Amino acid sequence: MEERLTAIAGAHGEPLATHAGATIAAGGKRLRPLLVLVAAGEPGSAEVEEALVRAAAAVELVHSATLVHDDVLDDAPLRRGVPTVYATAGRDAATQTGDLLFARAFSELARGEDAEQVRLLSDAGSALARGELVQRADAWDASISLERYLHRCDLKTARLFQAAARLGARCAGAGGAVEEALGDFGRRIGLAFQLLDDVLDVSGPAERTGKHRGTDLLDGTVTLPFILARARDPELGAIDPRTITEPAQAEAVCDRIAATGALDEARAQALDHVDGAKALLPEGLEERQRAALLLVADGVVARYA
Ligand code: IPE
Ligand code: IPE
Ligand code: MG
Ligand code: MG
Repeated sequence: MEERLTAIAGAHGEPLATHAGATIAAGGKRLRPLLVLVAAGEPGSAEVEEALVRAAAAVELVHSATLVHDDVLDDAPLRRGVPTVYATAGRDAATQTGDLLFARAFSELARGEDAEQVRLLSDAGSALARGELVQRADAWDASISLERYLHRCDLKTARLFQAAARLGARCAGAGGAVEEALGDFGRRIGLAFQLLDDVLDVSGPAERTGKHRGTDLLDGTVTLPFILARARDPELGAIDPRTITEPAQAEAVCDRIAATGALDEARAQALDHVDGAKALLPEGLEERQRAALLLVADGVVARYA
């Protein structure tokens, strides 16, 4: 899959090949392709293996596309430990690079015979776009509800995890009920993953996360730690996010959020979702596959240990 990703990202001439290639080469955890493969279990044949490489690469390409675009929307300087395409080459180059990665994802998936796979990934892509718009619409509003926050996380993150799991199960020829259950599992660990990502934005450290602390606060994105901390600390509750404009100021607010214990509470909520996800695993999976899926579920939490 890595070879496929590198070939796809590098195949479209300068300067897009440079930007797309750098995005892929910068790495990342490759969590979504991992979920594709683990949801499939043992491939069993060369055809299934090829279908899985295609699906895993397509999911990672959509993910990478959304990150390149997300960094434009969030005005983010750092991604995967290196400067973003937006920071290095500007808005236009980042927009086109994201578009290219999106387009290549669907052309990769369309090389297979299963139109349903294209539809699944396309639905996840649409949900992602809606999620980003919900996030922009709610920006700077410190009083957003927990429900609204969770809905945003579902759209912008959980749905792609769901699609990843379903694609893997489909490629391996799992039945409809198993595919659906693995999709629900993926969706729930995706939600846990975003909750933990939002904790990391506050807790850092930047050397481990590959992005600066307080990025969410600086671009008006109100997340679970801030929502919880505001209820615990009246001074935080009185802060208008629009007044947080400097990185040092954002870091100070991060420290204050941490001092309320809100990070522990947010981590605990994420862990609850991981447990919930595990309970959604269908009966009858092979033991090795079930064990791997449980490891992946724990993995979305382990990066914060
Ligand atoms: C970042 O995802 C965007 C979120 C949905 C939180 P990852 O943290 O999986 O990004 P990479 O692929 O490892 O860089
Ligand atoms: C996730 O949101 C981005 C997408 C799902 C496109 P974030 O804005 O929280 O992701 P990071 O923090 O920039 O990685
Ligand atoms: Mg972002
Ligand atoms: Mg974030």
